[in-house]
Amino acid sequence: MAYIVVKESKPLRGTVRISGSKNAVLPIIAATLLVDGVSVIKSVPDLRDVSVMSDLLRYLGAKVEYDGETLIVDAREIKDTEAPYNLVNKMRASFLVMGSLLSRFNTAKISMPGGCAIGTRPIDLHLKGFRAMGAEIVSDHGYVEAHAEKLSGSKIYLDFPSVGATENIMMAAVRAEGITTIENAAEEPEIVDLANFLNKMGAKVRGAGTNTIKITGVEKLEAVEHTVIPDRIEAGTYMVAAAMTKGDVFVDNVIIDHIKPVVAKLIEVGCTVEEHENGVRVIGTDKIMPTNIKTLPHPGFPTDMQSQFMAMLCMAEGKSTITETVFENRFMNVPELIRMGANIEINGKSAIVEGRDKLTGSEVMATDLRAGAALVISGLVAEGETIVKNIYHIERGYVDLVGKLSRLGAEICKVEESV
Ligand code: EPU
Repeated sequence: MAYIVVKESKPLRGTVRISGSKNAVLPIIAATLLVDGVSVIKSVPDLRDVSVMSDLLRYLGAKVEYDGETLIVDAREIKDTEAPYNLVNKMRASFLVMGSLLSRFNTAKISMPGGCAIGTRPIDLHLKGFRAMGAEIVSDHGYVEAHAEKLSGSKIYLDFPSVGATENIMMAAVRAEGITTIENAAEEPEIVDLANFLNKMGAKVRGAGTNTIKITGVEKLEAVEHTVIPDRIEAGTYMVAAAMTKGDVFVDNVIIDHIKPVVAKLIEVGCTVEEHENGVRVIGTDKIMPTNIKTLPHPGFPTDMQSQFMAMLCMAEGKSTITETVFENRFMNVPELIRMGANIEINGKSAIVEGRDKLTGSEVMATDLRAGAALVISGLVAEGETIVKNIYHIERGYVDLVGKLSRLGAEICKVEESV
């Protein structure tokens, strides 16, 4: 099993280029199943989750080609509408094919995704939406089966603005009869990117990026070309790495509007953040000030940046409180940070972080994708050497984390361990 070795490094300096967004591209790949044609997706990040989604589409009968940048999906001959356990259990986002299969074929059978390290993550809101559109849903033997004569538009209120449920319902609704309204919809930039892709195909999706999305069903959709938005969480991770190491880094290929909470919090802790047309320059501060963070759906502070900020606040001059409201189990990295000398106490949904002068290099384990990245950047400021294990989590969502950090001056390498 591979692991990452990070040594205490000099302040990071230079430019890092951000890849296409993982969480935008996954629903977009699922949406290519909507059309009897060949879709071309550009700026696709070379990640394990993208290859899992591609394998799932291949299993269903699509032809998928990828050159590390452009993904071509030929969905003209779909043979199957069933997504089996061994593919869905590798990645929860596989469940996103349900909406597009249901829309195009009026039937889909998907293995029920299990819980995961960050929480139980149910799918009730996805199913509530499909039911409201007239689908009959049966959950049996670990599978969810949905059938509809013809989906029809409906008003759907989401009890929580779930990103995945909003995406799945949008995909199901594009060809439904009449108008579907999603109320209390998720407003994340990835929702807007999916809406833009669907609209290019000929769909009528209005209001994406607000909490009310209206989808007017259309008869026909066409395959199109689309470029995925940059990954705001990858960008945020390098911004925090720059701040932690008291560095000076230009993070290139960023949509500033997407990272407002990250910019605001970095300024609050004392960093200088310059906004440029295509990116941001983050200049660290000698004294990191404490701050309080509460994760919320967009445009609130993103849960996917919580672990990285926690790592940084372990070095702040005072006490910070971090409250996680989106996932119930996203403090799994706390014991790992404590192994590195951090002073953190968990109290229900909040973690109280008392800053320290130094962290100490240790052997630690990535518990999920973002927690793993947080441990790697902690290693940059920890005395001695940090070994991060279980890095397959990190490889799900960061393109060449080791290469990009080392080009900024980090002392970091990946070691392939033969079993
Ligand atoms: N929820 C329900 N019922 C549902 C769906 C969700 O109760 O039917 C709950 C979840 O249990 C959770 C909350 O709603 O407590 C938010 O879940 P959401 O559905 O919004 O998340 P998701 O679509 O499963 C996406 C990202 C996550 C990101 C969250 C929140 C993708 C592929 N994943 O997950 O990304 O944390 O939105 O922004 O888009 C990551 O990249 O590391 C990651 C975990």
